[in-house]
Amino acid sequence: MGMFDDFRADVRRYLSPGMSVRDRVFEVALHQGLWATAVYRFGRWVYTRRPPVVGPALQVAYLAASKAIEITAGVYIYPGNDIGPGLYIGHPGGIHLNPDVKMGANCTLSQEVTLGTSAGGRAGAPVVGDNVYLGAGAKVIGEVKIGNGAHVAANSLVVADVVEGSTVMGVPARVMFKPAPAATAPTATNSNGAVKSG
Ligand SMILES: CC(C)(COP(=O)(O)OP(=O)(O)OC[C@H]1O[C@@H](n2cnc3c(N)ncnc32)[C@H](O)[C@@H]1OP(=O)(O)O)[C@@H](O)C(=O)NCCC(=O)NCCS
Repeated sequence: MGMFDDFRADVRRYLSPGMSVRDRVFEVALHQGLWATAVYRFGRWVYTRRPPVVGPALQVAYLAASKAIEITAGVYIYPGNDIGPGLYIGHPGGIHLNPDVKMGANCTLSQEVTLGTSAGGRAGAPVVGDNVYLGAGAKVIGEVKIGNGAHVAANSLVVADVVEGSTVMGVPARVMFKPAPAATAPTATNSNGAVKSG
């Protein structure tokens, strides 16, 4: 999908059925998580498309906007990060993604989430599936894969792969809830909606 399609999907994550027009306008205009996502989508577009002539000016505009977001919202997502549509940042603040992180569609980031490399020698960065919920303070370190529909509990430290549909928690994170057998059937893939609230 293109930048605008992805961003439309991001915006939809912030809106609930039954919201008044006024609430929708306020949510879209004032949510810092959405500001951060908009700047990320713009930066990714500038750096991957590299538009001729205006490209350098857009890069400067992106760098200024991303620094402003880092200072005001405490969110840093690199333009190199490959993130699917429908990103929801419930509460910004202290969110940092390593430039090599990849993330699927409809994921949720809470405050103080870090997805990074190991400083101890293990190479690689996390790869996150679709519909993954990362609770407040979750840290995911190294080349680990988080399966579709997984939930990572608040303040967990994930250093090993997380099975699709499971809930992990603790330091280091251990599986707390495994998916029911039916939920692992191929037809059920991606049907496990992420928790929206941050
Ligand atoms: C993982 C989570 C989704 C599970 O929620 P739940 O299904 O309602 O589970 P419960 O709260 O009933 O807890 C189940 C067990 O896990 C434990 N537990 C819950 N969260 C935990 C955590 N983050 N770390 C360690 N243990 C935890 C509970 O103590 C309980 O243990 P017990 O069975 O021995 O009593 C939830 O605990 C969580 O971490 N959500 C993220 C919340 C968040 O970040 N919100 C952002 C607010 S801005």
